[in-house]
Amino acid sequence: MRQSLVVGNWKMNGSIQSNQSLLEALKAGMSTVKNSEVAVCPPFIYLQQVSEILKDTAIGWGGQTLSEQDSGAFTGEVSANMLLDFHSKYVIVGHSERRSLYAESDQLVAEKFAKAQAAGLIPILCVGELLEQREAGETENVVKRQLDAVVNSQGIAALSNSVIAYEPVWAIGTGKTASPAQAQDVHAFIRQQIAAQDVNVAEKVQILYGGSVKANNAAELFAMQDIDGGLIGGASLQAEDFLTICQAG
Ligand code: 13P
Repeated sequence: MRQSLVVGNWKMNGSIQSNQSLLEALKAGMSTVKNSEVAVCPPFIYLQQVSEILKDTAIGWGGQTLSEQDSGAFTGEVSANMLLDFHSKYVIVGHSERRSLYAESDQLVAEKFAKAQAAGLIPILCVGELLEQREAGETENVVKRQLDAVVNSQGIAALSNSVIAYEPVWAIGTGKTASPAQAQDVHAFIRQQIAAQDVNVAEKVQILYGGSVKANNAAELFAMQDIDGGLIGGASLQAEDFLTICQAG
């Protein structure tokens, strides 16, 4: 039985004040979350605040991306060790917004994954197809290519210390959730691809669904066999909604 995991990806949202009230409300509500691990990924600048408020709680935290470099003249970048300085547990890599808006290639995502893991962070590797790729019947090819970029460079065993998030790009921020069956199909495909190389890793790895997960659809998504929780954008900014989603895990 895989542990359920629900991660809030705040994206570029928050303020010192709103973070404080959101996190206090999450802390207060965590006693109602029985089955899920929970984490939040705030903008880098708030990691100190988040780490102070959440220390000694069951809620973890992490970054939304990281540099593939260790240190040096890379203006604007944040390294794995800097995330660890603030006791981050997770880091998202290859989010579709990073891939599309910041031109992150499969190769770069694999380098970031490797850097995160070498430092002791748990990478949350995002994969997912565009609407036109789904319509062209390319979903499995796209997801396989994104997964293979990491597996071919890091080896299949690397996935056992990672989390995968299937996020169909057409479902992100659009209010169009993949149906539980659509999501389950792709999750099962991902697990089969991994099982073809290592059955134990396939059984163990958590595969989260992301894309318009809300308080009113989380339970049916998380009930699917190969969906082990969610990566939540907009709904993770509202304490009550996020807690309801966490309770569904
Ligand atoms: P929404 O939940 O806002 O659709 O965002 C999903 C996402 O991109 C999480 O990483």
